[in-house]
Amino acid sequence: MIMIILGIETSCDETGVALYSEANGLIAQKLYSQIGLHKEFGGVVPELASRDQIQKLLPLIHELLRDADLCLSDLTGIAFTAGPGLAGALMVGACVGRSLAWALGIPAVAVNHLEAHLLAPMLEENPPTFPHLALLVSGGHCALIHVKAFSEYQIIGETLDDAVGEAFDKTARILGLPYPGGPKIAALATQGDPHHYTFPRPMTDRPGLDFSFSGLKTFVANLIQREGHNPSTYPDIAAGFQQAIVDTLVIKAKRAIKQTGLSSLVVSGGVSANQVLRETLTEWGQNCSVQVHFPRLEFCTDNGAMVAYAGYQRLQGGETTDLMVSIQPRWRIDTLGSQ
Ligand code: KG4
Ligand code: ZN
Repeated sequence: MIMIILGIETSCDETGVALYSEANGLIAQKLYSQIGLHKEFGGVVPELASRDQIQKLLPLIHELLRDADLCLSDLTGIAFTAGPGLAGALMVGACVGRSLAWALGIPAVAVNHLEAHLLAPMLEENPPTFPHLALLVSGGHCALIHVKAFSEYQIIGETLDDAVGEAFDKTARILGLPYPGGPKIAALATQGDPHHYTFPRPMTDRPGLDFSFSGLKTFVANLIQREGHNPSTYPDIAAGFQQAIVDTLVIKAKRAIKQTGLSSLVVSGGVSANQVLRETLTEWGQNCSVQVHFPRLEFCTDNGAMVAYAGYQRLQGGETTDLMVSIQPRWRIDTLGSQ
C-alpha cells in the first residue's frame, strides 16, 4: 500500500497541515497564520495561540483532504509536531494527530520541529545529501548543526542568548514595527544604507561557532536614545542591523564549513527567508564550490509540509509513538539519534 502521511504543525502561531505521498511527494498543503491575532500584543500570546489552534485545525484538515480529493480512510499515517514549542499549542496538534490515528487504526509519529525545519529543503528539486552542515535560523533558535545522517545531529554552535528571529522581532518592536519583525525590518532596510551606522558583528573576533544577538538589539536601543526618535533614521538602522546579522551568520557558517570539511550547507527556519542572507550565501557558495540549499520561501517559516516529510521518513523507518498523547516543549535536536 502506498504511504500517504498527514503532517500537522501547531508548535506556535501557525496551523499547518499537509499530505506527503510515497509515490508523488508533497500532494497538498494548507496554512493558517495567526499573525493578525497577535499583532496588537507585539508577540505571540500562548493562550490565544492554543485556543485558535483548536478552532482552526480540524476544518483545515478537512479542507486539505477535500482539495486533494482524498478522504480520511486514504491516510496511512499521521505525523504531528511534538516539540519544541508552546505547550498549549503543541498539545492541540498532538491530541488531534494521535487520536485521529487511533480512530483510523493507523500509526502516528511525533516529529521534532527543528528536524522538520532542517528537512524542509528535501522537498525541493535538488535536495541536499548527507552529510551536510545546517544553519538553523528561526524565531526560537539559532544553531550550526553537523547533520551526519538523517536523525544524527551534532550541535557545533548555538546562540548564547536571543535567537536570530527573536533579535529581528525585538528590534522591530523598538522601531515601532509590528510582529513578526523580520520581514518588516527587511522591507525597511531596502530603503537604507547598511554602512551608515557601524554595528558590531558579535563574537566574530574570537574563535568558536557560538552566537550572541542580544547586544545588537541593545545597540539599536542606545542609538535611538542618543539620536532621538527620528523615523527618518530608521531605514539606515534597519539596514545596518540586518547587515550585521547577515555578516555574523555568514562568518560563522564559513568557519563551520572550514572546520568540518563539509561541502554543502542547508539554511532553514524563518530567517532563511531573508533575501540578503539568501543572496550572500548563494554567491559565496558559487565562488567556493559549496552547495547551498534553502527551502522555498513559503517553507522557511512554519508549515505542515516539513512535518509531513519528516514524519514520512520516521514512519518509513518503522518508528511510531504509543497511544499516550505526549509533547516535549523543550526538545533538543541532538537527542534524537538516541531515541
Ligand atoms: O521558523 P519560524 O516560522 O518559527 C520558529 O520556529 O521560531 O520563524 C519565525 C521567525 C520570526 O522571528 C520572523 O521575524 C523571522 O522568522 N523571519 C524573518 C524573515 N521572515 C521571517 N527574519 C528576517 N527576514 C525575513 N525575511
Ligand atoms: Zn519554526
